[in-house]
Amino acid sequence: MNWRSHLPVLTVLFYLTVFAPAQADPAAPPPTPLGVAMKQMSGAYKELSFDLQQPSDANKAHYLSLAGTLKTGAQTSRGLVPKKAATLPPDQQATMVKAYQKSMDDLIQQIGALTQDIQNSQWDDARKAMAAIKQQMIVGHKDFRVKK
Ligand code: HEM
Repeated sequence: MNWRSHLPVLTVLFYLTVFAPAQADPAAPPPTPLGVAMKQMSGAYKELSFDLQQPSDANKAHYLSLAGTLKTGAQTSRGLVPKKAATLPPDQQATMVKAYQKSMDDLIQQIGALTQDIQNSQWDDARKAMAAIKQQMIVGHKDFRVKK
């Protein structure tokens, strides 16, 4: 047996070592469609927040595309129902969903303002809009997310 005969085994071991730890926890519940939309927003928010610390007009198109991802994520989320609804008594569910939709509408408006600020290179205002969005997120999660 020379070392070459071990190659298939070594290859499998290599892939398991490098890629297996990156797999999602199999015991974790699968993400809801709302969770997926939220994660997309989260990635765009983090990147944009970093970018706007030292913005440059040359990168405006990229900032606008990140704001676009936020907008699409919020619009998708607006049409979905948080898991929390099913944990409430049936007579409270519709009220909660209405309040959730109102909060999402506010978020969509804030994202619209952010987009305008970026378009106009008003970077201070854009950073303020990002702070308002973060606040909306904190309140939204407190009111509509199931506690872990
Ligand atoms: C840009 C703003 C926001 C970001 C970046 C964001 C991000 C996230 C993230 C990362 C999760 C966890 C997803 C998972 O692990 O599956 C989540 C969950 C959630 N978020 Fe947000 N969020 C934002 C705004 C909001 C707002 C405004 C509301 C409510 C009006 C909201 C309601 C929820 C709910 C209900 C969940 C739990 C998902 C479910 O019930 O299925 N989020 N969000």
